[in-house]
Amino acid sequence: MDLYIDTANLDEIKQAADMGVLDGVTTNPSLIAKEGVDYSTRLAEICKVVEGCATGAPGPVSAEVIATDYEGMIKEGRRHATIAGNIVVKLPCTLDGLKACKTFSDENVPTNLTLCFQPLQALMVAKAGAFLVSPFIGRLDDIAQDGMELIAGIRQIYDNFGLPTKILAASIRHPLHFVQCALAGADVATVPFKVIRQVMQHPLTESGLEKFVADYNKAFGT
Ligand code: E4P
Repeated sequence: MDLYIDTANLDEIKQAADMGVLDGVTTNPSLIAKEGVDYSTRLAEICKVVEGCATGAPGPVSAEVIATDYEGMIKEGRRHATIAGNIVVKLPCTLDGLKACKTFSDENVPTNLTLCFQPLQALMVAKAGAFLVSPFIGRLDDIAQDGMELIAGIRQIYDNFGLPTKILAASIRHPLHFVQCALAGADVATVPFKVIRQVMQHPLTESGLEKFVADYNKAFGT
């Protein structure tokens, strides 16, 4: 499973890249707004950081359009796509988004169809040629629906019909979501930096390490 980081914070992206685990980046308008920076400038900076990430190739960077109408999405998406070769145009799972997805896929511009909340949206965007689909797990859990069922349903539909669109599990809030996505066969998980750090923390690793060091120091007095 590929691992993307879900942030527009450059320092977090650099830290994850230095760990050698990063395959790509997702952003969204809320994450950009949180950073308070110029959108295009930040996208260019992010693309540079992931030029040679874990895969050795430039990692995909999802750049979401703000426009909600077809023409606006095409205009903005084309502008994003000129920033770098690893930009993936992120479009919403709406009728206009679907049409824009088809236009971009005819132009060989990769797309990520976001805000996917039910399996038929994923089927439709795959038919329109999406490179990635982003089912949002946490936001379904927030309204008492099992987000993980969505991942499993899309996995089954894509496998039934050999659809090549990659499932990018999004809205991951904690390590349990992350491991369940891997078990359910998501192709990619996009994860906040906090969760990347959390998965490497285990009390037995910490206590085991402390004991190794203490035993060695006791024996050799260092
Ligand atoms: C995905 O691309 C989104 O940016 C993200 O995963 C949304 O997560 P949230 O529901 O925690 O805001």
